[in-house]
Amino acid sequence: MHKAMKKILFIIGSLRKASFNRQLAQEVEQMLGNRATVDYLDYADVPLINQDIEFPAPEAVKRAREKVAASDALWIFSPEYNYSYPGHLKNLIDWLSRPLIEGDRQSPLAINDKKVALSGAGGSAATAKCREKLTELLTLPFIHADVMIEPQSGISLNKEAWTEGRMLLSDEQKALLKLQVDAFLDYIG
Ligand SMILES: Cc1cc2nc3c(=O)[nH]c(=O)nc-3n(C[C@H](O)[C@H](O)[C@H](O)COP(=O)(O)O)c2cc1C
Repeated sequence: MHKAMKKILFIIGSLRKASFNRQLAQEVEQMLGNRATVDYLDYADVPLINQDIEFPAPEAVKRAREKVAASDALWIFSPEYNYSYPGHLKNLIDWLSRPLIEGDRQSPLAINDKKVALSGAGGSAATAKCREKLTELLTLPFIHADVMIEPQSGISLNKEAWTEGRMLLSDEQKALLKLQVDAFLDYIG
């Protein structure tokens, strides 16, 4: 019997239309082919977290939580902002870390134990600090996601990409990405 196809939710850590990290996600989507189903999380309308509006959760937050809950795994493609993750990505993860019912710290959250892959495209350090800090954040006790520590993929964008706004991966970078795709499919079973 065929195993059910796994659903992977892609989260892009950039809100920019022509984002290199979105381009990277599209490359991974192609590499996954028909081995998983892919959906993209649209979270640009998630408000800044504010405990005055936490309960009931805003519609955009509910939608994001439902998408996360309905997926078997997450794949985060994020740029590095000042040696860390972008604020809007942290904001999304902060919402995902909060209880659904006021004061209820017992019920599991959509993000708990969710398998997560990390990738990023950026400057010469290839988003290493961002991925390191994301790992620390995602493995905190209240979040407790199941991050695949290795392999990750960090793409250092070349000069051409910066001038033309289009990411072209080298064979070596493609090989790295393929390795991560295969490893993550194994990881999520
Ligand atoms: C606020 C801000 C801070 C940045 N800091 C870093 C950084 O620490 N490391 C890095 O590699 N690139 C940094 N960059 C450059 C990004 O890598 C670059 O803008 C990249 O294109 C963003 O990814 P995107 O194309 O997916 O939007 C920064 C960009 C912004 C807007």
